[in-house]
Amino acid sequence: MKKLIIEGKHELSGRIKIGGAKNSVVALIPAAVLSDGICTIYNVPDISDVHRLIEMLELLNVKVTFKDETLIIDNTNAKNNEIPSNLAEKLRASYYFMGSLLAKYNHAEISYPGGCSIGARPIDLHIGGFEKLGAKTSIKDNNYTIKTNNLKGADIFLDFASVGATINLILAATKAKGTTRIYNAAKEPEIVNVASFLTTMGAKIYGVGTSEITIEGVEKLGDGIVEVIPDRIEAGTYLIIGSLLGKDLVIEGIIKEHLGSVITKLNEIGCKLKINGSTITVNKCDNLKPVKVKTLVYPGFPTDLGQPISTLLTQCEGVSLFEETIYENRMRHIPHLNAMGANIKLDDKTATIKGKTNLTGKKVEATDLRAGAAMLVAGMIAEGTTVISNIEHILRGYENIVDKLSKVGGKVKIVEEIISIANK
Ligand code: UD1
Repeated sequence: MKKLIIEGKHELSGRIKIGGAKNSVVALIPAAVLSDGICTIYNVPDISDVHRLIEMLELLNVKVTFKDETLIIDNTNAKNNEIPSNLAEKLRASYYFMGSLLAKYNHAEISYPGGCSIGARPIDLHIGGFEKLGAKTSIKDNNYTIKTNNLKGADIFLDFASVGATINLILAATKAKGTTRIYNAAKEPEIVNVASFLTTMGAKIYGVGTSEITIEGVEKLGDGIVEVIPDRIEAGTYLIIGSLLGKDLVIEGIIKEHLGSVITKLNEIGCKLKINGSTITVNKCDNLKPVKVKTLVYPGFPTDLGQPISTLLTQCEGVSLFEETIYENRMRHIPHLNAMGANIKLDDKTATIKGKTNLTGKKVEATDLRAGAAMLVAGMIAEGTTVISNIEHILRGYENIVDKLSKVGGKVKIVEEIISIANK
């Protein structure tokens, strides 16, 4: 079991380069399977989710090389295969193989996906969409078999603008006969990244980034090439840390348009951000103002940054509100923040945060990926030492986190705890 040890209150100065977006790359890798040729993906972050997806590709007889942030995926000898639960349950995005295998082979067999326990996270919109395209699904012991004789284009209305369902249905529709229209589609930048990749393979997709997406099915998809967009959630996390500890801390390699709601909220709090092209310089600021943060689908404030910003709100002078609207279970970090000295009351999906409170280092847990990021922010500003357990969650989404923070003056390290059998 790995733990993250943080000695708090160190000023951060220098440059942090943002890596490729986790939520893009985890869709781009399964999307690559649609190609009959070779795909090249640049700016791939070295995170554990990427390694798990590579294992799934290898199970499909796909040849993969991952070097210098570049992933080369050779589908020449690819074969369909079942993706078993021990792999699928490692991450949410394994479900993108449903869309890509169904489109390529008319048959996908995969176990229910894993991912963070931040809510019920059903996949009814994915399955309902596949069925509209002409597939039939059977479920046995959490294993999904999705089959068709031929996918046919259809009109699909999503009850919720789900990121995962939008991407999965685009994947499935790329080779369906005729035209598919997805209404109330999600608009996240990661979806645009995936569609651009598919377009280089020869897919015909229009309207991504809007709530109505049209896909004209094609028969074959060839070589593909794409660069993973910068991770707006990683960037937002470092902007939050920089707002509390930065001294001319430069966050580089961002697309500022993807961070619109985050930059606006940080400005409202009184954080000092200087934007220059693809970099943002951030400085610690005193007298932070309390605000209300409500998470929404893009371009609203991202649910994945709700937990990290809630730690920043403990440092604002007055009462702030953090309201989560996407998931039922995004507040599991709150008891840990309170244990460190925060004053937060929880009422269903709204946290009322009274600041400013001094935080003290404690033993805490990363209950999920972004809860882990919230505890990281807390540990960085706390008096003394914070020990975060369950950091496998954090390593799923934050590339080289120890290196990136150490290089700018943070005192963080990962230790491996050996649990003896007697202690188990
Ligand atoms: C993706 C991101 C995740 C982010 C989320 C919202 C990946 C791998 N993960 O997750 O980091 O927090 O978008 O920005 O990209 N829903 C249903 N039925 C469905 C699908 C979704 O009810 O079939 C519900 C979910 O339970 C949730 C909401 O819709 O309440 C949003 O989910 P969705 O946008 O699909 O999120 P993910 O794609 O799982």
